[in-house]
Amino acid sequence: MLLQLPTENIPIQEISIHKNVKLFIKREDLIHPQISGNKYWKLFYNINHYLEKNPEKPYIITFGGAFSNHIAAVSAVGNLAGIPTLGIIRGEELEHKWRDNPTLLFAKRNGMNLKFVTREEYRHKEKLTEFLQQEFPDALVVPEGGTNEDAVEGVKMMLNEQTKDFDYLCTAVGTGGTIAGISKFCEENQKVIGCKVVDDASLENKISELTLKQNFNLIDSCFGGYGKISDENIRFINDFKEKYDIPLEPIYTGKMMQKVVELIEEGYFPENSRILCFHTGGLQGIEGANLLLEKQNRNLII
Ligand SMILES: Cc1ncc(COP(=O)(O)O)c(C=O)c1O
Repeated sequence: MLLQLPTENIPIQEISIHKNVKLFIKREDLIHPQISGNKYWKLFYNINHYLEKNPEKPYIITFGGAFSNHIAAVSAVGNLAGIPTLGIIRGEELEHKWRDNPTLLFAKRNGMNLKFVTREEYRHKEKLTEFLQQEFPDALVVPEGGTNEDAVEGVKMMLNEQTKDFDYLCTAVGTGGTIAGISKFCEENQKVIGCKVVDDASLENKISELTLKQNFNLIDSCFGGYGKISDENIRFINDFKEKYDIPLEPIYTGKMMQKVVELIEEGYFPENSRILCFHTGGLQGIEGANLLLEKQNRNLII
């Protein structure tokens, strides 16, 4: 059972970056050492609703790429709750290389079984899900990134009395569950900015279906494509860490913060706006990113 954590205690830190607006970051990354940020909330009802049904032999199956924060989080839940887990991983070439990948190694150490599939097979996840649900009728099959209606309900817990005090709420967008939850449960006067790190034209509709509101705006924050790490972003992340002592990672939160700062400098936000960015965690990904950067003889993330 995942416990409801005391969300009122999560720090909101000010980032003094520009005189015209007030920028803050809510440290959801501090919520849990292994199931950090939005992952905790997206899994909260998925897992608790499943366990309430008292499956005889609980089993959790999910999907993800080689560096997936979601795979890491589900494996940690499985380990903590004593539930066996299976991760369907994109890329059959990883079958013999998973020990070199810190995320997959972490998942394995948490007892997760890994099944590697080709990119083509992975693209047809709906078929895979159907097949898995037939093969394991008692299992909980969580979609990629954990995004579904239960996830959206869970994200409500990222909002509280303190978050009502902001004009803009910003988050990184991957599969869309987090922004859908923020958009669904925020105040009527608040605007939601989604920094889209994936080039996926279907996201807007998917999010609209989950939130049923139109208070959000998606802004391209791919910076070269999903998972691509630019030198400029590494510099931004390292500067941010030095100035504010807040770590960011290069796939989601680093890109979101860089984009929000760009928007502030372009004058996107009206003067005196109060802007809140959600730090959605994912810091486990830094180690894997640094291994890749090292191979390319590039600067590392500190
Ligand atoms: C660290 C981090 N931030 C943001 C997101 C984006 O969340 P969502 O997939 O709900 O859009 C993810 C993906 O789950 C993530 O791992």
